Amino acid sequence: MKEKIQLLQNQIKELKISNITELEQFRIQFLGTKGIIKDLYTDFKSVPNEEKKEIGQLVNNLREIAEDLFSSHKELFESAENEGAKIDFSRPGEVFSIGSHHPISLVRAEIIDVFSKIGYAVSDGPEIEDDWHNFSALNFPPEHPARDMQDTFFIEKGENEMALRTHTSSVQVRVMENQKPPIRTISPGRVYRNEAISARAHCFFHQVEGLYIDKDVSFADLKQTLLHFAKEIFGEKAQIRLRPSYFPFTEPSAEVDVSCSICNAKGCNVCKNTGWLEILGCGMVDPNVLEACGIDSTIYSGFAFGMGIERITQLKYKVNDLRLYSENDIRFINQFKSSL
Ligand code: DAH
Repeated sequence: MKEKIQLLQNQIKELKISNITELEQFRIQFLGTKGIIKDLYTDFKSVPNEEKKEIGQLVNNLREIAEDLFSSHKELFESAENEGAKIDFSRPGEVFSIGSHHPISLVRAEIIDVFSKIGYAVSDGPEIEDDWHNFSALNFPPEHPARDMQDTFFIEKGENEMALRTHTSSVQVRVMENQKPPIRTISPGRVYRNEAISARAHCFFHQVEGLYIDKDVSFADLKQTLLHFAKEIFGEKAQIRLRPSYFPFTEPSAEVDVSCSICNAKGCNVCKNTGWLEILGCGMVDPNVLEACGIDSTIYSGFAFGMGIERITQLKYKVNDLRLYSENDIRFINQFKSSL
């Protein structure tokens, strides 16, 4: 009987139980009511008295080994099963927030899109500018009020005068100095002015400058380009009107209004009942500017225009407080989800 028990013990140790069905088979074979161990206890009755103690221990020992093996495997399989139950493959995926684009970025991208489709390149310039690019080359006389401390953030005064650019027209100068006509470019960027912050003014904002230089560029080309732009941005029904104006770097100069898309030009409080909203400044590039930038004004002519991105955004999305653009209030920004 001792050998038999030893053999069974070895057999149990070598057993490989890899699933619940095999475990159940093992239980029935060894621990069941008609199982091997039950039989051993029956056989035990006929063991001679002097061997009973030793054999009894061996049988008990074998039963313990079998029971341990059973319970440890049972635990293992049950916990694996529970793990499986925890993973619900039918559950919808976790939604992660993709954020949204800032309205200024959206409108800048839209403006770039409109002009790149009609052949305009995008150009860039520094935000810290010298007097030449921001003022002098653009035909600002030395005593012009825009140069004043009240408007301009100066970084260095005196000989190496440097300032935060007050407009993106400075990029026109850089492009004309570095490229030969024909030139067709737009320059989006941030500009700075020494203004008290309020709903209607800010110390920094964004502009897009446009420049077109070639032979025989006329004022009619400028009007047609701006009408195209207005229709692309504000819809097919949009109309524009030009009012005479003055800028040092353009002659003649104009300010451009677009028909109010909020009231269909019927008159509302946004357009102050005029049916028109001012959107940009423009004009034919002054010959003095062309010459200052090394372009022969007897051969070439061109037009330029400059608009505020905040202004276009305000009209498109009816935002009436400039401060919202830089406060990073998530409730504001989240309203501009897009597929950009
Ligand atoms: N630089 C002007 C401003 O900041 C805007 C502007 C007006 C740009 C007329 C132009 C232009 O190119 O032709 O107010």
